[in-house]
Amino acid sequence: MRFFIDTADLEEIKAANDLGVLDGVTTNPSLVAKIVQDPENFTYEDFKAHIAKICDIVDGPVSAEVTTLLAEEMIVQGEDLAAIHDNVVVKCPLTLEGLKAMHHLSANGIRINATLVFSPTQAILAAKAGASYVSPFVGRLDDISTEGMALVEQIVDIYDNYRFPTEVLVASIRHPQHVVDAALIGADVATIPFKVIGQLLKHPLTDTGLERFMKDAAVIKKG
Ligand code: G3P
Repeated sequence: MRFFIDTADLEEIKAANDLGVLDGVTTNPSLVAKIVQDPENFTYEDFKAHIAKICDIVDGPVSAEVTTLLAEEMIVQGEDLAAIHDNVVVKCPLTLEGLKAMHHLSANGIRINATLVFSPTQAILAAKAGASYVSPFVGRLDDISTEGMALVEQIVDIYDNYRFPTEVLVASIRHPQHVVDAALIGADVATIPFKVIGQLLKHPLTDTGLERFMKDAAVIKKG
């Protein structure tokens, strides 16, 4: 199972990368907006430069999302984003226009992450359009009292049935149990917020056990 970090924050990306467990990064316009310090003067060129900085930190796929709604514009922007670095994966929304753009871009060798996926039918379309990744948003489904992980199970089953090469990238992860469930289902990738990556290693018995070991280690030092 691969771990991506779901953030545009360079410090978070560096810190997670230093842990040695990071395989890639996903961003979206909302995550980028969070880290922009001067929104009045943040340009598209600044956005691309920021994606380039992420690619310099992490040696793995970096999802950068298109910011237009029409297929033709998504194609132009997707080609532009893909030119930033070999590791850039272009994120397109699962809309009619997005699907057209995905098909065109993937047919031209650009890797696609199909985003804002909330149903198995959308996931089938993403695979047929040649997306490299499909991103079911589990937390946002949970938010509306729909079991997000049930969608992940369905997508994994469907892709297995037809040996679709599209990888299942579980997104909108909110807590460690989402990561465990994604792993049990056999999802290919989990994209995880920085805070949740930290939560993955915490266990109270580790803390109390270590405290005891450190106390008892005093004996060794004396000896
Ligand atoms: O990767 C998509 C993810 O960022 C969405 O997360 O928490 O905004 O639903 P969230």
